[in-house]
Amino acid sequence: MAILKIARMGHPVLLQKAAPVADPGAPEIRRLVADMIETMDDAPGVGLAAPQVHVPRRLFVFRVPAGRTTGDPGDAPLGTTVLINPLVEPLGEEVRLRWEGCLSIPGLRAAVPRAWRVRYRGMDCEGQEVLGEATGFHAGVVQHENDHLDGILYPMRLTDFSLFGFAEELARAELARQQANPVEAAGAPPA
Ligand code: NI
Repeated sequence: MAILKIARMGHPVLLQKAAPVADPGAPEIRRLVADMIETMDDAPGVGLAAPQVHVPRRLFVFRVPAGRTTGDPGDAPLGTTVLINPLVEPLGEEVRLRWEGCLSIPGLRAAVPRAWRVRYRGMDCEGQEVLGEATGFHAGVVQHENDHLDGILYPMRLTDFSLFGFAEELARAELARQQANPVEAAGAPPA
């Protein structure tokens, strides 16, 4: 296994439309998936698409950490999952803003409009079909990673550039807001 070099925004590989994987069970695909998981965990990140490691093929890995879920039934924690040649489609019309970062855009975060609920399918390295329905964080990470396969980076999705900034500054501003209004920050109902 190996930790792979991650392409950063500006590298042309991130703007390419990736090609389908001909044989999901091929040894070189298994090796790529194992290396991508190691690279994602090392970064650390919650998702990584093949074009981000300079391989323009349609596959990504992701996970849903317990601390990031919204508590919605479709948004339960999920261990590391591989999707090869995925198809992702929104379920319903609902779109919400979700905070996202990207390993190819280090240090920055933005609130990105994403379908709240999606359905997806793809294959794993055993050639088995993977089917899923997701909401919230889970739905967002799948849409973000799937966008990478079409050469789309999250800044291309932004509708409000005032919600785009350095993660460190956004966290500082959030802390200041919480300190200014601790009751509201704690989620207590208004008096
Ligand atoms: Ni990304």
